[in-house]
Amino acid sequence: MKLGIAITDRHDWTAAALLEAAADRGFETYVIDLRDTDVVIKEEVIISNKGLILPTLDALVVRDVGAGPMEGVSFRFDVLRQLEIQGTLILNSPETIRNAANKYHTTYLLAKAGLPVPATFSVQDRNKAIQIIKDLKDAVVKPVFGYKGKGIIRVRDGRMLEPDSSISKVPWEDQITQMIDSWGMLYIQEFIENQGRDIRAFIVNGKVLGSIYRSAQRGHWINNLSQGGTSAPCTLTPSQERICAKAAEAVGTVFAGVDLIEGPQGTMVLEVNGTPSGAGIYNSCGVNVAGHILDYIPLKL
Ligand SMILES: Nc1ncnc2c1ncn2[C@@H]1O[C@H](COP(=O)(O)OP(=O)(O)O)[C@@H](O)[C@H]1O
Ligand SMILES: [Mg+2]
Repeated sequence: MKLGIAITDRHDWTAAALLEAAADRGFETYVIDLRDTDVVIKEEVIISNKGLILPTLDALVVRDVGAGPMEGVSFRFDVLRQLEIQGTLILNSPETIRNAANKYHTTYLLAKAGLPVPATFSVQDRNKAIQIIKDLKDAVVKPVFGYKGKGIIRVRDGRMLEPDSSISKVPWEDQITQMIDSWGMLYIQEFIENQGRDIRAFIVNGKVLGSIYRSAQRGHWINNLSQGGTSAPCTLTPSQERICAKAAEAVGTVFAGVDLIEGPQGTMVLEVNGTPSGAGIYNSCGVNVAGHILDYIPLKL
């Protein structure tokens, strides 16, 4: 089996774990940075990456597409779609990575699948946004393509809160104006009261392999590990396990990190990550997800 692993950072835990698991299985493995891909269209179409003809791969596991300007990201997604059409199994599929990368579309898919999600409003008009935030009384506004808890703001009772819950000096309406001017739309969600923690579960092929609580620093309201949160093992209820599996399925991802939040109305899904890190689950639960991801491939080829 000729396997590609798309990574941009060799020091990334998940990338290293995937490489090791591939070596254990005796796969002929190629490390690929998708940012090195070129396509020549003449009499033939040649999609190559540092001399490797990509359509010769049987499968490609995508850890990381590579961030950067929109045109480059879009090109790499196009290439992935074209490889898929030409017969390479891409995990997660580019369509599902795209679904998951877009918080608005993810929330739509989750709600349509009957999953519990916080009340969410997507609007393109500043005044509507201001009114919704006032009505919600406690709201978060997130970049639709955001990650690692970056760029999220919270407005509670007419004041913007910093990540440590102190009151920001910036008038929140100015912040909203700036956000809608740069994005052309806003994704606004009710803030779900919680105990200063949420849950990250790792799912492969419909099964929860492990889950962790992520607790924010004292007084903070963003629980991401990359924002200083700490992790501890967590045991999901059967109902939470079903929610996770259904969330991954709704977005279409074979492997996924599903974020849950336990609020006064029960468990809700915050987001689905289609290129999740396995490090937190390994460190807290001792489960190495990489082997499980690779074991899925032969089932599909
Ligand atoms: N609706 C919400 N209610 C309460 N906390 C939230 C809400 N949305 C996000 N958060 C907090 O912000 C963190 C990041 O939000 P998330 O939607 O998972 O985006 P990201 O892709 O940046 O991780 C969550 O883990 C949680 O701590
Ligand atoms: Mg998250």
